[in-house]
Amino acid sequence: MKINENFLKVPESYLFTDIGRRIAAYKQAHPEADIIRLGIGDITRPLPAACVEAMRLAAAEMGTEQGFRGYPPEYGQPFLIEKIREFDYAARGVQLDSDEIFISDGAKSDTGNIGDIFDRDNIVAVCDPVYPVYADTNAMAGRAGEPGPDGKWSRLIFLPCTADNDFLPELPEKRPDLIYLCFPNNPTGASISKAKLAEWVDYANTNGSVILFDAAYEAYITGDAPHSIYEIEGAKTCAVEFRSFSKTAGFTGVRCAYTVVPKQLTVQSVSLNKLWARRQATKFNGVSYVTQRAAEAVYSPEGRRQVAANIEYCRRNAAVIAGALREAGFRVWGAQDSPYIWMQTPGAMKSWDFFDLLLDKAHVAGTPGCGFGPGGEGYFRLTAFGEAGRTLEATERIKRIFS
Ligand code: MLT
Repeated sequence: MKINENFLKVPESYLFTDIGRRIAAYKQAHPEADIIRLGIGDITRPLPAACVEAMRLAAAEMGTEQGFRGYPPEYGQPFLIEKIREFDYAARGVQLDSDEIFISDGAKSDTGNIGDIFDRDNIVAVCDPVYPVYADTNAMAGRAGEPGPDGKWSRLIFLPCTADNDFLPELPEKRPDLIYLCFPNNPTGASISKAKLAEWVDYANTNGSVILFDAAYEAYITGDAPHSIYEIEGAKTCAVEFRSFSKTAGFTGVRCAYTVVPKQLTVQSVSLNKLWARRQATKFNGVSYVTQRAAEAVYSPEGRRQVAANIEYCRRNAAVIAGALREAGFRVWGAQDSPYIWMQTPGAMKSWDFFDLLLDKAHVAGTPGCGFGPGGEGYFRLTAFGEAGRTLEATERIKRIFS
């Protein structure tokens, strides 16, 4: 009997579990501390009223003879898929077939699970810093090799994202099979232009690589950055896209997302759409009817207004945080097209040291940049998802300490 030993190679706990534990330990030692949490990107605004009403109606329907439903369609309810096609894609000039959209319980799960349909020997490229799920799940699958003392995996290609390249990765020198890209980016908040993303699409098509494009934060785009990779010509033959209702409609606790796998996307003449459909039908039982009705309500006129208001709320928080940090003399990125504010620690302080300092002196919890990979060392991430008054209070505490 043997376990999957790859699990022994990844850090013992997931980044945000680790942070949660540290905060809990601090709170236990300092019960009087009024901690403001701007660490994990979790929503604090209540669900949009349109979604709540849709859930209430759907729950009532499920309690009737005629309205009861058992297992949901494994790839998603047609009523939701049609709304996604119309509002998220056709409205941006992208035509998708219904069977190219797969409803799921989260972009986190999908970006991790997608590895199931690719060979273990594929070479994977990730940005550095990066959302830890991409690297960790590939490590668990045995695709990342061995962790090095520098925090880098021996078989992963790390694409440095630094202040010098505006946190936009350069095309790799060595050809990867799979390329994870996330824009607007978690953790740096950087967004990518159509021209820059087109370079990646051309690269992938020329080299036979597949881009795994995480667009979970597209709703925060303010300028003309692409919301979907399929706005770029040629992307349907090289990219899978992940989207989520978590960071748009506040579904972090409700759970609903979707993944697009175009039928034109093939590897060794095999349709990835068919493989993903097979994988989902076997390992996933769909998203509840009540939840998908709530997601559908996001596209109603009231839903769209309410979601836009929540996003505006976070944008204001982001501007408050970025402004305050700049006033306090920090170098700051993100915040513009993203709910994340990425800052350099003072005096090249280590990320975890800054985490401890901020927690202890300001009772503000953020996320150490090094938790996102070696390239994040010396950086720190704050989120704009907090309650506005608490967010302002957090920035005032920070300013008091560092100004
Ligand atoms: C984050 O804080 O990076 C996100 O909340 C993580 C996630 O969406 O899973």
